[in-house]
Amino acid sequence: MKVAVFGLGYVGTVTAAGLASRGHEVVGVDVDTLKVDMVRRGQSPVVEPGIDLLVRDAVAGGRLDATTDARLALERADVSLVCVGTPSSPRGDTDLTYIKRALSDLRDAMEVAEPPSGVHSVVIRSTVPPGTCATVVAPVFAAQDLPQGWSVGTAMTPEFLREGCGVEDFFAPPFVVVGTQDARTREALTELFAFLGQEIHHVDLATAEALKYACNAFHAVKVTFANEMGRVFAPFGVDARRVMEIFTEDRKLNIAPTYLRPGFAFGGSCLPKDLRALQTMARYAGVEIPMVGSAMVSNEILVRSVVDRVLQSGYQRVCLLGLSFKMDTDDLRESPNLEVAERFVGKGLDVRIYDPIVNPDRLVGANLRHLQSKLAHVNRLLATTPQEALDGAEVVVVASSDPAGLEALKAADPRLVIDLNGRLGIDVERLEPYQGVSW
Ligand SMILES: NC(=O)c1ccc[n+]([C@@H]2O[C@H](COP(=O)([O-])OP(=O)(O)OC[C@H]3O[C@@H](n4cnc5c(N)ncnc54)[C@H](O)[C@@H]3O)[C@@H](O)[C@H]2O)c1
Repeated sequence: MKVAVFGLGYVGTVTAAGLASRGHEVVGVDVDTLKVDMVRRGQSPVVEPGIDLLVRDAVAGGRLDATTDARLALERADVSLVCVGTPSSPRGDTDLTYIKRALSDLRDAMEVAEPPSGVHSVVIRSTVPPGTCATVVAPVFAAQDLPQGWSVGTAMTPEFLREGCGVEDFFAPPFVVVGTQDARTREALTELFAFLGQEIHHVDLATAEALKYACNAFHAVKVTFANEMGRVFAPFGVDARRVMEIFTEDRKLNIAPTYLRPGFAFGGSCLPKDLRALQTMARYAGVEIPMVGSAMVSNEILVRSVVDRVLQSGYQRVCLLGLSFKMDTDDLRESPNLEVAERFVGKGLDVRIYDPIVNPDRLVGANLRHLQSKLAHVNRLLATTPQEALDGAEVVVVASSDPAGLEALKAADPRLVIDLNGRLGIDVERLEPYQGVSW
């Protein structure tokens, strides 16, 4: 395919040379004449293992060229990949100046360049916040304003390469993600990246945009987590590197999809207790572990946001489906659902709770004491069937995927449903007539 790559920095150079090495006809565009001249001479403007050879061979083979003139690059190109920088603005948000400039260069070039026979796909490869493609990119190429012969589809395909092994990562990315609403662009990008031999995740634009931030945030969190473990254990003479070595062998819970699905707060008899203990160890040792400490803060924000949402609704009759901290256990210690119930009661709401397992007559020991300390009159609140709990409920908070509760909810008629863990799946659709939310 004929490809124009805007921006010849780390991402653009690797992308341009990588695509050219796989038989695509690529022209790189940069506003920096030095970078353009280097590529034209067959030299890489960035330092990356393997890139020099890739650029040299691609230029020598006539499959890679560079220019400062967007029109030359755009001439009959099927795809434009925008790889310009998106640095932080002084306020911390993403500075889209270079993106806007590249888009306007592209759009201006369309006035004079010969269009391709089919659609031209404008694809953002830079990291941009969710909504950018819809609100910044697409309007530049609104069909009614395009010059004769041009038809443009927009897309987002984030780049996941790491500097230092950029070429290697380019040819073996963790995943290939294409976000677009345009079927022809989807097809074009499937063809463009076919050489990778990887399944393509087709998603909407905002998902593709968001994914890159989620990845980078997670990488940063991982580094910080490991470093905080190092700091907190050092005063105990513990080799945290050895701890983390074994830690990473756990592919069931630690290095696994487990616990990575957005939903509601964590709780139970272990996590909060042991996080508090870790924070206290750190405090006694005079070290700071702000990230681990902030997990409890973040948890509390979730609980508060649910309570605030219900209070803001103005409804009084609330049904809580699920009380224990997770399904299939009656353990109520530090259950965030119990916390929510307690705050509802404290705010004077009329609360009914259904939990298929929690039966106050069977609870003993710490569990019972915990329940009584939180909900003194729990027997009056607990319903024996979900129907009973749902009867007359204006708000339903779904905190469990117990099938009986979800089935009974279908027949109920609440005004607001808060689906804490996305349990309702397809049934979320039936919330539309209500002012329902799900998260
Ligand atoms: N560097 C990485 O490891 C990496 C990895 C994945 C994604 N990203 C993202 O990719 C994007 C590019 O990152 P980078 O590190 O390659 O940036 P970079 O700063 O190395 O390169 C950006 C290039 O864009 C050029 N440019 C600016 N305006 C232009 C315009 N109007 N037309 C043509 N070229 C123009 C600049 O001259 C520069 O050469 C960023 O959004 C970044 O967040 C970077």
